[in-house]
Amino acid sequence: MPGPERFPAWNELSALARVPQTDTAPAAPWMISAAGLTVDFTKQLLDESVVRALLALAHEAGIGSAREQLFGGAEINNTERRAVLHTALRGDDGAPFADVVSATRARLTRFADEVRTGVYRGYSGKSIRNIVHIGIGGSHLGPELAVEALASSALAPRCHFVANIDGHALARVLAECQPETTLFVVVSKSFSTLETHVNANSARTWFIERVGDRAAVARHFVAVSANVAAAEAFGIDPAQIYPLWDWVGGRFSLWSAVGLPILFSAGPSAFDELLAGARAMDEHFRASDSAQNLPLLMALVGFWNYLFRGAESLAILPYDQRLRLLPSYLQQLEMESNGKSVHRDGTPCQIPTMPIVWGGEGTNGQHAFHQLLHQGTRRFTADFIAVAAPSHALEVHHRWLLANALAQSQAMLLGHESDDPHRAVSGRKPSTLILLDALTPARLGALLALYEHKVFCQGVLWNINSFDQWGVEIGKRLALPIFDQLAGASTEGQDASTHALIAALRTPPA
Ligand code: F6P
Repeated sequence: MPGPERFPAWNELSALARVPQTDTAPAAPWMISAAGLTVDFTKQLLDESVVRALLALAHEAGIGSAREQLFGGAEINNTERRAVLHTALRGDDGAPFADVVSATRARLTRFADEVRTGVYRGYSGKSIRNIVHIGIGGSHLGPELAVEALASSALAPRCHFVANIDGHALARVLAECQPETTLFVVVSKSFSTLETHVNANSARTWFIERVGDRAAVARHFVAVSANVAAAEAFGIDPAQIYPLWDWVGGRFSLWSAVGLPILFSAGPSAFDELLAGARAMDEHFRASDSAQNLPLLMALVGFWNYLFRGAESLAILPYDQRLRLLPSYLQQLEMESNGKSVHRDGTPCQIPTMPIVWGGEGTNGQHAFHQLLHQGTRRFTADFIAVAAPSHALEVHHRWLLANALAQSQAMLLGHESDDPHRAVSGRKPSTLILLDALTPARLGALLALYEHKVFCQGVLWNINSFDQWGVEIGKRLALPIFDQLAGASTEGQDASTHALIAALRTPPA
């Protein structure tokens, strides 16, 4: 039985979960600060005996040695026989691959500076004013989140993101671009992802049709990939192919050349600060005792909620409009990592693994889904993210924003008693609040690294491989015949629903 239920602490937690929880709000706060973040766990309603048992579970699961394997480059991605070294991208001189990471960062910085200052010119001699980033999943979510979260600097070209194969995504962006002042950044670790391949080909066609010179492609298309041969075959100048390595998972890759739009938009120094913030969280994660270790505590609190309180989802509630893309980013990081049903050795999990991650920015969510959170029947836990200092001067707005964030988490904890059952709010709904002093590159880096290490810790507790994603292959495989059948190929062998839907959708004969 390779799951966490094999450990003595599991039985202790199971017994504690059967004990009715105290009805009173905690008398003392449980807040821990590190790397510029302050995390308030007080509203998680965990008493000391539960915390002790959770820490014992982490110890029995070998979290310390697993962490050293992570940072040391062991092949912990066991099904793909790969190391997991996104931490090496943060630029720690003592990390594995430090030389090639540093050399690549220097290339990226030089290129970003040339584009931003107008030294780099397009085929007609004009400077670049629009960046079109083409990539999906981990080759998209992190860069777009960071570009939107961080202020763009004065020299910044405008950054657009095209991920979906839906032509509306590409068409809308191309309508705002002129070929001679546009740089396309094709980001794909495999350089074989369908969406990116189709989008990049259509963008190249658009470009050539307007410019009339295929040779100009090399000035206006660059690539970030581990598949250099495929990028060269597409027509990318080898000098403009920035590396990705197999020890960087897609959903952990924004710290690499995948983050190029961040250098274009916020600037190379901001990117360096982002890395420094993540490095600060790495150092905290490696050095701190378990009882003060933010990623581990986030992991254990989540584990308690999912496995012993029956929470069916984790709501990510960023109370900062600049972080509105954070739920989508964390959906991939958490659900593509720990949405698994077998242990590392292939045996089926006997306990639930990662639940659904969802969310939306506050205060908008209060007018959309908070009703269910306050009066629904579903169990959940929530992470609030708030930022103390805004980057605007609208003090009243920000004070209301913070007041709402605290009020919503308080309402989830305390509820509201009423003789009218339609107005009663049960309360006792656990939440964590992560407070950033400001949304700087360093704090964003620390926040994202916090979640990366939390995901790692939960994978260790579940004893699952958090770093592969075999489940995404089936859909890709099934779409291939349907693509042809929508254009007229025989649908023999399709299930009744798919057969009927293809018939309804089939392109009218020419
Ligand atoms: O969703 C599957 C996946 O492989 C992700 O893990 C990855 O981030 C994304 O597709 C894009 O992959 P690539 O960078 O190889 O295009």
